[in-house]
Amino acid sequence: MSFDRSVKIAPSILSADFANFGAEIEAVEAQGADWIHVDVMDGHFVPNLTFGPPLCAAIRKHINTVMDVHLMISPVDPYIEAFADAGADVLTAHLEAGPHIHRTLQAIRGAGCKAGLALNPGTGVEDIDYLLDMVDLICVMTVNPGFGGQKFIHSQVEKVRKLRSMIGDRPIHIEIDGGITPETAPLMAAAGADVLVAGSAVFKGGSVQNPAPYGENIRAIKASVV
Ligand code: DX5
Ligand code: ZN
Repeated sequence: MSFDRSVKIAPSILSADFANFGAEIEAVEAQGADWIHVDVMDGHFVPNLTFGPPLCAAIRKHINTVMDVHLMISPVDPYIEAFADAGADVLTAHLEAGPHIHRTLQAIRGAGCKAGLALNPGTGVEDIDYLLDMVDLICVMTVNPGFGGQKFIHSQVEKVRKLRSMIGDRPIHIEIDGGITPETAPLMAAAGADVLVAGSAVFKGGSVQNPAPYGENIRAIKASVV
């Protein structure tokens, strides 16, 4: 996985057909997805439940791009090895998920994954100075985590601008997660984001049988940022 700051679209399979993940992933990659975003929820850190390591391992063979696993779980540490074994390329933990995020990020890199750090909308960037040299990606949540299809929180544009200047030349991706559409994407790209997660805005109107809308939706987001 090489580093660059070009804008990448990461469809979230939270908005895909849960009975057909393999084919959904193949369809959305064929239609231009750059990464595949996998939302893991535990019904404790966030008020919703999705799936765990066995499902990630099962879909791994259908992903030819980057498997970007977003852990909305607490605790994180007991499950890092299982998600690494399942084939995650990027493993992202929330700053808010426990008292020892430094240890968690070390463990993620130690398990051979790229380390991601996610920040809830209510979390500032002041506490991450000492983490910048141990992360490969920072995920700025632009909705409160737990559900797809929520409304983009505009105050996060300023947060991304601050973050971009803090990062400087470090090879750290800025990922935006929640409420990304052709209207909100350009605000975030201009502020310095390079990975745009989009669930509802990519999967709307399409299906495995009719995948062309996935491509149109991805191209509409990409066109909005250039
Ligand atoms: C929310 C998830 C997101 C979500 C985005 O907790 O982390 O990845 O699927 O969905 P949209 O793009 O519909 O806001
Ligand atoms: Zn996510």
